[in-house]
Amino acid sequence: MLDKINVTPARNASNRYDWDELVQEDRVHRLIYTDPAIFEAEMTQIFGAVWVYVGHESQIARNDDFITTRLGLRPIILLRDSQGVIRALFNRCTHRGTTLCRKDKGSARTFTCPYHGWSYLNSGKLRAVPWPDGYACDFKDAKYNVAQVPRVESYRGFIFGTLNLDAPPLLDYLGGIAKPIDEWLDRQPKGRIAVCEANRLKFKGNWKLAYDNSGDGYHVVFSHRSLLEMENRQADVANKGMSYYKSSPDTSPMYMAYMGNGHHFKDKRPAIEKRAGGLWAVEGPAPGTEHYQEELRRRYGGKADDILDLASSEPVNINVFPNFSLLGNHIQVFEPVSVDETNVTWYGTAVVDEDGALGGAVDTINTLRMRTMEQFPNFGEVDDLANFEEIQRGLACLEDEWIYMHRGLGIPDRVKTDANGVIMAPATDEAFMREYIKEWKRLMKAKPNIAVKREP
Ligand code: FES
Ligand SMILES: [Fe+2]
Repeated sequence: MLDKINVTPARNASNRYDWDELVQEDRVHRLIYTDPAIFEAEMTQIFGAVWVYVGHESQIARNDDFITTRLGLRPIILLRDSQGVIRALFNRCTHRGTTLCRKDKGSARTFTCPYHGWSYLNSGKLRAVPWPDGYACDFKDAKYNVAQVPRVESYRGFIFGTLNLDAPPLLDYLGGIAKPIDEWLDRQPKGRIAVCEANRLKFKGNWKLAYDNSGDGYHVVFSHRSLLEMENRQADVANKGMSYYKSSPDTSPMYMAYMGNGHHFKDKRPAIEKRAGGLWAVEGPAPGTEHYQEELRRRYGGKADDILDLASSEPVNINVFPNFSLLGNHIQVFEPVSVDETNVTWYGTAVVDEDGALGGAVDTINTLRMRTMEQFPNFGEVDDLANFEEIQRGLACLEDEWIYMHRGLGIPDRVKTDANGVIMAPATDEAFMREYIKEWKRLMKAKPNIAVKREP
């Protein structure tokens, strides 16, 4: 059963603004980062209306597994029900609205509300109500079953949900960004990963500041100077980490590509030497890994380079609007909390080797991989978060209203569109920001067809 939700102006501020005034070709207004009413409208117009990442299949591998997550601000129980169906239930009791589940993850066939004990099957159907003779209603009415996200789809293990009945199928929404996602997966054995635990960070700033930065190649050598210095302190040749951003990144073979629907891709792979061991050669030092590295070289000889590459960060930023990125070996998720607070979670990923094709090296690879994954969230992301918080502080200057994103705009032959409509530009260009914010503007003006589903 579908409950259509009428998104009236009283429920949504989206038609109170002149979006063309707030989002211009070269600049955006401070209000889009600071206005609580715009934030609230985004929770429907963006986080209700497009496919939003909610979790990975490896986190709910068996029937009855669940994790708790979010769709915008809506608390969600993402689960594989007792029949194996992946569902995203609103984590909200239909009685008086309290959250049903307060654990991060687990396995459960039923959820019993902690408040008055109503219990539900993991399909979302109401199972029992304590002392039912105190009620005159028919509890078989579908309105007592837990509301759930009407459309949940997964792409090669990545699970997305949307409330918008008019949204295109997930694969169409991903469009051109599916190819870099495929390449990111296909470098892993059997094209698979398992999601591990996470670095959980937060910042006092608007969620779009993180998305604006997600392909920003302009800030790297300035904002992350200490990380670059640390990574290269012991190196004979200063080529570790993101050194390819030094001197003239715009003439380097890396590039940014805008793929439509707000998605964009920063491809740094062309800046890395293409050979076995090429990725491992630019990994920064991680004390304690030397023994593992030597052990792999001793055991696997010439094949060790390929194995070490699997432990190395993949030099890409694959950004799926509005909340999902693949960078290095991480899955990064942006989670809005309020107009000026955002959670940024960096999930580690592990290689999976069920049939033993890696000849017993899988644990060593994942151990090394864990060390390489410690680098950026701890030593780089903190630089970014400090920038985002300082932008939010700067935006309190009410009279200085505009934020510029015009790097590359109006320079002949700098930004190019290929035959597939992909917009390409040098690595430090802000073209992806201008393009995704146009898409944001289109969505803020649109009328999504929002609904929730309940079991009949
Ligand atoms: S709020 Fe859940 S049983 Fe009352
Ligand atoms: Fe950064």
